[in-house]
Order: sequence, then structure tokens, then C-alpha cells
Amino acid sequence: MTYDQMAMQTAEVATSHGPVNPWVALAYLISGVFFILALRGLSSPSTSQTGNRFGMAGMLIAVITTLVTHEIASLPEILAAIVLGGAIGFVIARRIAMTAMPELVAAFHSLVGLAAVLVGWAAYLNPAAFGLLDAGGAIDPTSKVEMGLGIAIGAITFSGSVIAFLKLSGRMSGSPILLPARHVINLGTLVAILVLVGMFAHTPGAEANLPFIIALTIAAFAIGFLLIIPIGGADMPVVVSMLNSYSGWAAAAMGFTLGNTAMIITGALVGSSGAILSYIMCRAMNRSFLSVIAGGFGADDSAAGGGEAREQRPYKQGSADDAAFMLEQAEKVIIIPGYGMAVAQAQHALREMADVLKEKGVEVKYAIHPVAGRMPGHMNVLLAEANVPYDEVFELEDINSEFAQADVAFIIGANDVVNPAAKTDKSSPIYGMPVFDVGAAKQVFFIKRSMNGVGYAGVDNDVFYMDQTMMLLSDAKKMVEEIVKALD
Ligand code: TAP
Repeated sequence: MTYDQMAMQTAEVATSHGPVNPWVALAYLISGVFFILALRGLSSPSTSQTGNRFGMAGMLIAVITTLVTHEIASLPEILAAIVLGGAIGFVIARRIAMTAMPELVAAFHSLVGLAAVLVGWAAYLNPAAFGLLDAGGAIDPTSKVEMGLGIAIGAITFSGSVIAFLKLSGRMSGSPILLPARHVINLGTLVAILVLVGMFAHTPGAEANLPFIIALTIAAFAIGFLLIIPIGGADMPVVVSMLNSYSGWAAAAMGFTLGNTAMIITGALVGSSGAILSYIMCRAMNRSFLSVIAGGFGADDSAAGGGEAREQRPYKQGSADDAAFMLEQAEKVIIIPGYGMAVAQAQHALREMADVLKEKGVEVKYAIHPVAGRMPGHMNVLLAEANVPYDEVFELEDINSEFAQADVAFIIGANDVVNPAAKTDKSSPIYGMPVFDVGAAKQVFFIKRSMNGVGYAGVDNDVFYMDQTMMLLSDAKKMVEEIVKALD
């Protein structure tokens, strides 16, 4: 497309929403640039704080611009909404446990989806306030397509996120609910929604097109529900990231309806980054992206943390004193944190242990699996909170070859991410997932609370029974604190 064609298109968009104040357009563009810089900063732990500041600056510019231009709502109404929403968000953020973060994110996405539905309906019911009427006093078909798609994606995001929240918080079973002929029903409903959007856009007159917008809203709420119920608990975090992506596209579609460039840019950024993250998570868990979003393909109850009866096999159990003694003798220790470290909040004690070992001349590194914990970056956030230096933290592909030279692999609350069944057992629900080669280390310490507990995938782990493994059965924080005491 040439520059002139793009300029003409931009001008068309501008006129269908009334004249656009160039200063407002510029302010939104600047806030969009800040959001892009924020994403760039957030791509590495060392630049993430700067990234966050860019994001905050971008949001501040967008909010101030909206407050200054406030065309649709009055200033007191906007401020009342900010104070109310901010207060609720503040209380929830203070109360929420780190381990419940995925379900909170799912709940928040449902609100983004609902907001898109409400904005779409508000624009439909009061098009004059949104500057959507053409010279003939009607909403033009392009705006109606944007409106219809925004409502549809928003409704899917809303009902899908509610189901994800219910599954993640344990209020609904994590097992997939598989309806017969679900793929036909789902595909049929999606096609019906697209047809309804087309009919809504091309039917002039509010009275004539009202049934179409009602029908597409209901169908979209239903399909959000139908798409998520067949997805098992094990894939739910991927679903949350995908719903994050949908919420971005819903916001972008609404940005077109409102002629708001900031919403279009941020919506597209959220939409595409959420989709990329879902894809990366699927790859790290060795799940096919298509099978996750289609729901129910290859879904397996055993992958939802169900647990299974296990044969009794001999294992060695040790104490904090045993571990401290061997850690002191080591030259190189690789720590593998997992979900249990988050549950125990053991990251501060762990850093203290690493500090003591480093003072004694031991080389200490942290190995982070892309899906360790329950959300992307879970371990990185916790280690950063405990001020673990970034240069001691390594990703799977960068450190896996080093286990062969390590004296100790120190597994703290991780389980699935070190399970060799992912490489050897084709029938295992985690088969194909890349895992740490802890078996290559001379000595393995494995902290977990009991031999009965299983990891997220609910399967036994051969690492427990290896010759060089010593099980340290205790709460992770308590065990590490005892090791630090013994080291002193
Ligand atoms: P898991 O396999 O879930 O294992 C957690 C381990 O921590 C268990 O062995 C558990 O055993 C132990 N544990 C729990 N509380 C503890 C405590 N207070 N003190 C000591 N140990 C404790 O963890 P992982 O290795 O991090 O693997 C993550 C799993 O989640 C993978 O299967 C991954 O696919 C899945 N998943 C992750 C994500 C993301 S994005 N991170 C998304 C979806 C799914 P006990 O109960 O015996 O203590």
C-alpha cells in the first residue's frame, strides 16, 4: 500500500468519527510508542523496571488525554469510575496470594471482555455521542462491522475467562468437559457469528438490525463458554494467555469503533503479545497450540494434577545437616526452583543459602524452566523479589548441558520440570516437554513435603529413586532455613 493510499484510508477513518484533534492523535501516538518501548523493556529481567516505567508513562499520557478530551462521559463520572475501580483493584492486589495470580488474571480479562461488549452496545444505542452517524443519520456499515466484531470478541473473552477463573480457582472441576460433536457445534457457532455480523452491518435501520446484534451477542457468550469447557486444567494457563490475546483484539476492535488510536495500538500489542506467549507456553509444555485452542483434542484427565497410585520404591532420605555438609564440599551447585518454592515462599531463604555458599567459594547458578511454577516468569519474579542477581539465573537451553559438570543439582519445589519421563515414557502426559538433565549431576537434593505429593502433571518421578538422589522431605522454606543454620 502506498503512503497516499494509507493517508486516504486514515482520512476516511477520521471523517467517519468526526474531525480528529491533531494534538489528541499525537498524544495517543506517543503513548503507543511508550507501550512498545515498555514491551521491549519487559523482554529481559534487567530492563524490566525501565519497561514498566515506560508502560506507566504511556498509560498516564493516554489517561490524561482522555480526561482532557472527555467527549462521552463527564469529568466527575470518569473520576468516580477511576476512584471506585482503583480502590477495588488496590484491595484485591494487596490480598491476592502469588499462587492465585493466574485466576486473578483470568478474572480481570473477563472484565476487559465485558467492557468491550458494553462499549459496543453503548455505541450502537447512542451512535451520535460516539460520532458514528453519517450524513444520512445512519451508522455506516464499516463501523457496524467493527462494533459487531468488538462485541463478539468481547463476549467470547468474558464467558471464556469466567470459565477459566472457575476452573483455576477450583470452583469448577479442572477436568475437560467433552460434549459430543463439540467441534461441529463450535465451528457452526463461529460461522453463525460471522454471518450475523455481516447481516447486522448490511441491514439499515436500528429496528431491523437489532435482532442481529442481540443474536450475535448471545451466540458469542455461548461460544466463549463452549470453547473453554473442553480444555483441561493442565492447559488452563495457556488459555488465560490466549484470553489475554482475545481481550486485546476486542479492545482494538473497539478502538476502531471509537476512532481511538491509543486503543487500536494497545489492543493490537496485547492481542499479538498474548498470542505469541500462548504459542511459547505450548511449545515449552509440548502441547500443540491448535489442540489447546480447539479444546479437548488429546485432553487427558491425568494431566490435570489428578495423581495416581504409585508403587513403593526405595529412596534415600536425608537431613538439613547432610545437605549442608555436601553443599559445602561442592564446587558447582545448580538450583532448580519450582512451584513448591512459590508455595513455601522460600526464595529469600534460598538466596541467603546461595550467599553463604558463595562466601565459601562455591559457584551457584539458578536454572529456570519456561513453565516452572504456574505462570510465565513465575520463578524469575520470585527470585528478583529476593534480589538474586540476574547473571546467576539461566534458562533451560543455556544451562542444561552444565549439569554434567555440576556437583549438586538442588531441586526446590520443582517436580515435572525435572521428570525424565518427559524424555523416556511415551505414555506420560508430559512426554516431549523439555526437562532439566538433573541425573547428570553427581548429587541431587530434592526438596518436597512428602513422597505422596505429585507435581502438576500428577505422575511419579524417577529422580526420587536415583542412587545419587537424597530426598529432603519438608516444607521448602523450613528446610532451606535449617540448611543455612547448619552451614553457619
Ligand atoms: P510441579 O511439577 O507442580 O511440582 C511442585 C512440587 O512442589 C511438588 O513436588 C510438590 O510436592 C512440591 N511442593 C509443593 N508445596 C511445597 C512446599 N511448601 N514445600 C516444598 N515442596 C512443595 O512444579 P514445577 O516443576 O514447577 O512444574 C510446573 C508444572 O506446572 C508443569 O507441569 C507445567 O507444565 C505446569 N504449568 C506451568 C505453567 C507455567 S506458565 N508456569 C502453565 C501451565 C502449567 P509436595 O506436595 O510433596 O510438597
